[in-house]
Amino acid sequence: MVEGRSSRLPGFYALPANERIKVSAKISNLNDDEKEAIHQYGAISAELADTFIENAVGTYSLPLGIATNFLINEKDVLIPMAVEESSVLAAASHGAKLARYGHGFHTSSSDPIMTGQVQIFVSPDTPFDEILTRNKQMIIDYANVGQDRLINRGGGAQDLSWYYIPEIESLVLSLHIHTCDAMGANIVNTMCEKVSLLVAKEIFPGRDLGLRILSNLTDRRIAKATCHIPPEAFKSKQFSGQEVIERIYRAWQFAYYDIYRASTHNKGVMNGIDPVLIATGNDWRAIEAGAHAYCCKDGVYRPMTKWSITPKGNLYGELELPMAVGTVGGVTKLHPTAQAALKLLGKPNARELAEIICCVGLAQNLSALRALASEGIQQGHMALHEKNLDLLKKINQ
Ligand code: MEV
Repeated sequence: MVEGRSSRLPGFYALPANERIKVSAKISNLNDDEKEAIHQYGAISAELADTFIENAVGTYSLPLGIATNFLINEKDVLIPMAVEESSVLAAASHGAKLARYGHGFHTSSSDPIMTGQVQIFVSPDTPFDEILTRNKQMIIDYANVGQDRLINRGGGAQDLSWYYIPEIESLVLSLHIHTCDAMGANIVNTMCEKVSLLVAKEIFPGRDLGLRILSNLTDRRIAKATCHIPPEAFKSKQFSGQEVIERIYRAWQFAYYDIYRASTHNKGVMNGIDPVLIATGNDWRAIEAGAHAYCCKDGVYRPMTKWSITPKGNLYGELELPMAVGTVGGVTKLHPTAQAALKLLGKPNARELAEIICCVGLAQNLSALRALASEGIQQGHMALHEKNLDLLKKINQ
C-alpha cells in the first residue's frame, strides 16, 4: 500500500470485482501487469505449472479477495486472501474493524530461525554431551561451508542443540539456521544432510544415521499479534459491549477446557491464516502442522489464541504461532499472483509477513467468537451462503 492510504473502504464489498481491483490497485500503486495478475482466472502458464509440480495437467482456481480495515502497527494494510469458503473475507474484515476501536493490531516476531533434525542411533552410555560440546562449533562451521550467499545476507547455521530419546536410542541434533527472507526448507534439508555425513563419519563413527529433515515446529521462528478492544466496539441491539466481551471470554474458555471446541476454534484461526499463505505462495501445510503442534506443546491441545478481560474492561487478544513464511524464492518468487499479492501487502519482508498473517488469524477468530457468542454465525453466514445456493439451483434446473 502507498504510505498514508487507508484500508478503510466502506462499500468495497458492494463493488463489482473490476471496480474493487481498480480501487485496490490505485491504493497499492499496482501497474497493469500486476492488476492483471490478480484480476484474472488462471494466472500461471502451463509451463510454470509444470515447473512447480510433476504431472501437471492444468491449474486450480480459488476466489481471491481482499480483506479490508487492517491497521497493523499504526499502518493500513490490504490483505489478499485465496479461499473457497463464503464469509471468511467478511469475517476477517469485520474482526479488523473491531480491532480499530483499539488502534488495530500490534506485532512482534523472532529472527527467522529454522530448525533441522539429524537423528543418529547411539547407545545411552555414549558420552554424547561431552562429544557434542567439543565439536559443536565445528559442526556449525561445516554446515555453513558453501553457503556464502546466505551468510552474506546475515543468515546461516547459528546454533546446535541436542537431546536423547531413550525409547528409540536416538540422539537428535537440532541445527538452528537463520534463513533470512526465505522459508528455508531447502536450505535446512541441505545443511542437515551435509552435517549428517560429518557426524556419521567423524563424530560418531560406525553409528547408524536416522532421518535428516527440518522440523515444522519452528518454535524459534515465532510471530505474535495482539489487540486491545474497548467495549463500545461490541455494543449491539441485543447486548451491551461489556456483555459481549464477557461472552467472548467465556467462548474462549470453552475452547481452553474442551478439545472438541478447541479444534473448531483453531480451524477458525486457520480460516484467516491459510488464505494469506496461499495468496502469497507459501506452504500452508507446513504452517498448519507447526501451529497445531505448537498449541499442544504443554501436552494438552489448547486454543491458538488467548483472550482475556483487562482491569479496565477491555478485551485483550493475542495470537503467537510458529510462522515460517518466505517472501523470496520458490513459488513466492515465480507465481505472478503471489508477487502481486506481496505488493498489495506493501512488500513485507518474511518477518513482517509472518506478523501480518498472525493479525489476520486473530481478526478471524475474534469475528467468529463475537458472532458465536452473540447472535450465532448462521445469520451472517447463511446470507452469504444464499448466493451459493441460488447458483446451485440454477445449475440444477
Ligand atoms: C467456520 O469455518 C469456522 C468457525 O466454526 C470457527 C469457530 O467456531 O470458532 C465459525
